[in-house]
Amino acid sequence: MATAKLDMEKLVSLCRRRGFIFQSSEIYGGINGFWDYGPLGVELKKNIKDAWWQDMVRNPPLGPNGQEISMVGLDCSIIMNPKVWEASGHVGGFSDPMVDCKESKKRYRADQLELLQGHQEIVPTLYYAYTKGDESLLKDALKKAEKAARASGKKLAGTPLGQAFMQVAKDAAKLAIIVGPDVDVPGTLTEPRAFNLMFQTYVGAVQSAENIAYLRPETAQGIFVNFKNVLDSSRVKLPFGIAQVGKAFRNEINPRNYTFRSREFEQMEIEFFCHPSESMKWYEYWRDVRKNWYSQLGIKSDNLKPREQGKDELAFYSIGTTDIEYMFPFSEEPQELEGVAHRGAYDLTQHMKHSGKDLTYMDEDAWNRDAANRKTNSFKEWLKTNPAKEEIEKYQYVPHVIEPSAGADRFTLAVLCEAYSEDKVPDAKGNLEERLVMKFHPRLAPVKAAILPLVKKDGMPEKADGLYRELKKHFKVEYDDGGAVGRRYRRQDEIGTPFCITIDGDTLKDDTVTIRDRDTLQQRRVSMAGVLEEIRKALG
Ligand code: GAP
Repeated sequence: MATAKLDMEKLVSLCRRRGFIFQSSEIYGGINGFWDYGPLGVELKKNIKDAWWQDMVRNPPLGPNGQEISMVGLDCSIIMNPKVWEASGHVGGFSDPMVDCKESKKRYRADQLELLQGHQEIVPTLYYAYTKGDESLLKDALKKAEKAARASGKKLAGTPLGQAFMQVAKDAAKLAIIVGPDVDVPGTLTEPRAFNLMFQTYVGAVQSAENIAYLRPETAQGIFVNFKNVLDSSRVKLPFGIAQVGKAFRNEINPRNYTFRSREFEQMEIEFFCHPSESMKWYEYWRDVRKNWYSQLGIKSDNLKPREQGKDELAFYSIGTTDIEYMFPFSEEPQELEGVAHRGAYDLTQHMKHSGKDLTYMDEDAWNRDAANRKTNSFKEWLKTNPAKEEIEKYQYVPHVIEPSAGADRFTLAVLCEAYSEDKVPDAKGNLEERLVMKFHPRLAPVKAAILPLVKKDGMPEKADGLYRELKKHFKVEYDDGGAVGRRYRRQDEIGTPFCITIDGDTLKDDTVTIRDRDTLQQRRVSMAGVLEEIRKALG
């Protein structure tokens, strides 16, 4: 049975009401594309980043042959030498095609605009633009086409066909017959122009061209430029990965769908360096590891869609990329949570060219292993014997890179969408009442347990307070003694607390408490001393 689609407005309202996500600078009217995480949101997002760090950096799954994975972390500065972004190609090419509307003054991503072709019996035939995936703009475009038909005395049925704006706008003359999404007259859209997404700033007191710097649009480049530092300062050998979690900034033309496309967001990226001959094996490994990670944290497999990019979508240096996509409720099509890309030797090669530094890897183990087959132990001397390229690359090469690049905010949004549920549960009198419950995986839940004294007397608050103080050393827990216990359960359900622990009359007699499970509603009696272990077990 198909489940009803979540109404995003309900989720947005819950997130604001319960302190998950606020609009940035809300009291000043907000600022488009920027968001703040409230007290519960910050716990949720931190749990996500911590789970990623624990599962990918400190304790990654075993490799394809059952071997330990070598992984280290890094935390780079947000502003880097601007030459980094020239080498990476971001200064020249990190741009989206953009279209302005001269009348409405709105700006659109040209590659996200689609067109309805108006009815051909009407002269002139017009095209009506709307943003792909935006149902209300599509409806507007349809209405405009029907209105034009009525004005010409025609009664035309049927839905006009959608076409990509970029395709039609290749012929600049056609712009004159395109009606923009937010206007009623044709000819107001400009030709698409490349718009660089990097935020620019100046370093130092003088705002001149030589002081221009950029807020990083991805964390990956910090890893590439530190590749040699990490190799020289730690005992890692290839294959190994470097991981980083941090802010990235993109001046998105059209931030939308809540936090999905923001201008400031956090990435969780791994650059995994390996021998070129093993890169496909590692690409497949990371693609599977990353998909499984989302499933383990409660994303239903029906909503999770890994999609291998077509050859025409791939970056020119990439041999393969899989987008791990999620069926967000605001879209008819799955949307990217993470890209797992085979980047070949592109990035290190670029940084070698631009910095003049040698970023090749020397496999000392392989070199020493083959010592008996050579006359010399000096690599330089051996090179003078003109060995074949494949022979050299057994020992010295530019590593290939597999890059699993995830968005912490996108996954937080997916977790919120996935967790949102409405059901009916019996109240104190056994009557069914509506319940809004966030079914977070216990590992991600912002609050792990609530401690509830049944009444505020008879020594129950003291017992509850003792347990609260003990548990808060280990997890984020809440103490709640306000109102009927049923209402307190509802409050905790709404923020997704997996366990409610009630201190009642029996606790005073035998030091046992009840643990209520958020999802099954079952209550079990356990000893107070065992509560910590019960919660630990559920967190896995
Ligand atoms: N280093 C590769 C890289 O940055 P990307 O596909 O541009 O690749 C990786 O970004 C991930 O970062 C995306 O899968 C997404 O989760 C997140 N991301 C990218 N742009 C974003 C935005 N404007 N708002 C929120 N998350 C974004």
